[in-house]
Amino acid sequence: MGAIDLSPVPSLGERAGGERRWETDPEAYWATIDAATTGLDAPVLAADLDALRFNTEQLLRRAGGKPIRVASKSLRSRPVLDALLAVDGYAGVLAYDVAEAHWLAVSTPERPGCPDVLVAYPSADLGAIAALAADPEAAARVTLMIDDAAQLDLIDAAVPPSRRPDLRVCLDIDASYRAPALGFMGVRRSPVRTRAEASVLAVTIGGRRGFTLVGVMTYDAQIAGVGDRSLHRPGAAAIVRAMQGASWDELVARRGEILTDLRRIADLEFVNGGGTGSLERNAADPNVTDIAAGSGLYGPTLFDDYSHFTPAPAMGFGLAVTRRPAPDTITCHGGGWIASGPAGSGRVPTPVWPAGLHLLGREGAGEVQTPLHGDRARRIPLGDRVWFRHAKAGEPCEHVNEFVIAKDGGVEATAVTYRGEGKAFL
Ligand SMILES: Cc1ncc(COP(=O)(O)O)c(C=O)c1O
Repeated sequence: MGAIDLSPVPSLGERAGGERRWETDPEAYWATIDAATTGLDAPVLAADLDALRFNTEQLLRRAGGKPIRVASKSLRSRPVLDALLAVDGYAGVLAYDVAEAHWLAVSTPERPGCPDVLVAYPSADLGAIAALAADPEAAARVTLMIDDAAQLDLIDAAVPPSRRPDLRVCLDIDASYRAPALGFMGVRRSPVRTRAEASVLAVTIGGRRGFTLVGVMTYDAQIAGVGDRSLHRPGAAAIVRAMQGASWDELVARRGEILTDLRRIADLEFVNGGGTGSLERNAADPNVTDIAAGSGLYGPTLFDDYSHFTPAPAMGFGLAVTRRPAPDTITCHGGGWIASGPAGSGRVPTPVWPAGLHLLGREGAGEVQTPLHGDRARRIPLGDRVWFRHAKAGEPCEHVNEFVIAKDGGVEATAVTYRGEGKAFL
């Protein structure tokens, strides 16, 4: 068992037309992952190394040479983060919590810390902010997110500027879209939307002791995180595509104007944009210097419905079959690994292997047991495993201490998760 090597494999790439077992023979693909983990007790989380490498390459190709800042919430495993950052074209982390960012930035005898960690969300965790400010190495490596002068006050309340080094801050600019008829599209993040609002806050930051404005971030959630290809609802998909096109044009124009103003106010080191679903678009905008992405590595089900790319379904979790309540129904132990976000059928795990099994509408994926129905269930003995895919990328890692990286029916490596390292940030 060795270190995790995510170097892209050109022969698996789409351009090279290499073999993609997850598409050509999904039954065999999942059976091989199952075989790799035979000796391990369920629930077991696993990722296929070839699929991870395929996804590593796909993200790079879609970023068109612009550095990818790795969204840690979508990986939640430090060795996997390190493995991705070791690949040319990946640089820096987009973290989700100040304590997490601090932990990732610190160097230890075992591993060098990450020199560039951007916290994507503002924080009111005064303890974590104080700890960061008390650690000069980490404070120089971590950038905090700001979209309101009141957040500067919170930081000052944690440690006054006289007792800390200057802290690096980034301005979050609202990238949502007000669509005709559809209304608000995107996520409720920053109140800073206009040129005037951005300039006022940048000037405020510049005038405050103890802060340096070093970057700008825009997250186009309504593009990056919304699939534009629904096989079941082609009409809705066409509306999504039209909305995304209009939203992108609006964002590029507004972001460009805001940046022209901000560059007169501060020396910006970076402009971060996008996510897994909007790499190409952000790659094409010269204003963006690095693009965030993470979900595209594990390839969860929420990323199955995009017209311009299809990640390999690299990660799955296996549950043990423990009961047979009816001849065509089996029950697995555990399974309620429900994804965050608006509750609905798209957020539950999808049984993928053996094929032909379905969740029951009235029970879904349960806290401690998950019944599955289908003719195939008749031939699955108790003790066997059923494999599921999660709807989101990082969240399965909150359920296990480590996961298996499988290759050709064997275990290539084991990746400890944040949880496995005793880290539960949110
Ligand atoms: C600020 C920000 N950038 C980028 C992303 C996209 O991350 P991913 O590509 O892992 O879906 C997210 C996800 O929520 C985000 O909050």
